[in-house]
Amino acid sequence: MQINENFKDLGENYLFTAVAKKVAAFQQERPEVKIIKLGIGDVTQPLCPAVVSAMEGAVREMGEAATFHGYGPEQGYPFLRAAIARYYASHGVEIDPDEVYVGDGAKSDIGNILDLFGPDNAVLMPDPVYPVYADTNVMAGRRVIYANACEENGFLPLPEKDEQADIIYICSPNNPTGAAYDAGGLKLWVDYALERDAVIIYDAAYESFIRSGGLPRSIFEIPGARSCALEFCSLSKKAGFTGTRCGYTVIPKELSRGGMSLGKMWVRRQTTKFNGVAYVVQRGAEAVFTPEGERQTAAAIDVYRGNAKVITDALTELGVWYTGGENSPYVWLKCPDGLDSWGFFDRLLREAGVVGTPGVGFGRNGEGFFRLTAFGSPAATAEAVERLKKLLGK
Ligand code: MLT
Repeated sequence: MQINENFKDLGENYLFTAVAKKVAAFQQERPEVKIIKLGIGDVTQPLCPAVVSAMEGAVREMGEAATFHGYGPEQGYPFLRAAIARYYASHGVEIDPDEVYVGDGAKSDIGNILDLFGPDNAVLMPDPVYPVYADTNVMAGRRVIYANACEENGFLPLPEKDEQADIIYICSPNNPTGAAYDAGGLKLWVDYALERDAVIIYDAAYESFIRSGGLPRSIFEIPGARSCALEFCSLSKKAGFTGTRCGYTVIPKELSRGGMSLGKMWVRRQTTKFNGVAYVVQRGAEAVFTPEGERQTAAAIDVYRGNAKVITDALTELGVWYTGGENSPYVWLKCPDGLDSWGFFDRLLREAGVVGTPGVGFGRNGEGFFRLTAFGSPAATAEAVERLKKLLGK
């Protein structure tokens, strides 16, 4: 019997588990502290009325023999795939509903997609990076190369000519830094992937936070991307589905490698290992893409954008360097007073009762940086900012 020894190369805990454990230990030590959590990017605004009513209707259907649903279609219900394709069309991207694969969230699909790739591919991702990209590849024993994301390049690295990568991860707007590529930057990555026959794994989980004109919401806005990219998206942050679970993956029909269609391989993989997203949830997801659902979810996103503004205004006032927060729910700041990431985490927790995420948890380049999320309630965010100002002497 052989164990997967690659697990030895992982940190003991997933980043957000490590943070949660530290917070729980502190709360036990100091039960009187009212902790405010701006760490993991979990939403606080409830599901919008359009989603709730669609799900209520679907539950009633499930309670009647005539309208009951068992196992659903393997790629997701046609009504939801068509709604997603219409959403893409609304920002100028033509995709066929047959290229949409409904899943239970971007995190699982991004991890599971690796079943399609051989073990010896070189994998390129930015540092700092969403830990799922790195950890899932380490589990599979793949070699990971890091692209240097730093203050100098605005945390948006571009391809380097001599880098030999087969799989490339891009997340824009980025988790953790909140930085977003423009079309020119993404075009360089698409050209680089096409030149090398590489595949781009594009994470668009935060696309609904884009407000600045000219920033692409999808890699498929870039010419050539259909032959080299697949895209993952999620309703978690767009529509408050972190606890409801629904996302989707788009795999263009022309995307193939080694004579094999990636879309067909994904169907084969999903039908073997996954039985689909609940009918009730897919009906709720469909409602997100109705005009009413779009309006209501945009209102919730505006609440988070307001929070991000409260955080970034305070950082400006305090003279703390930051990026993000504009087209993203994440604010990425430089730790004050020369502290390292965990040093600032401890100080903020112990002296202000506020939880954030240490930048170094996202990679070596994150050392000395810190991430705050705008997904808290407005009241909690305002209170956290007041405590931060007090802590930093204003
Ligand atoms: C985060 O805090 O980075 C997110 O919650 C991660 C995720 O969406 O899984």
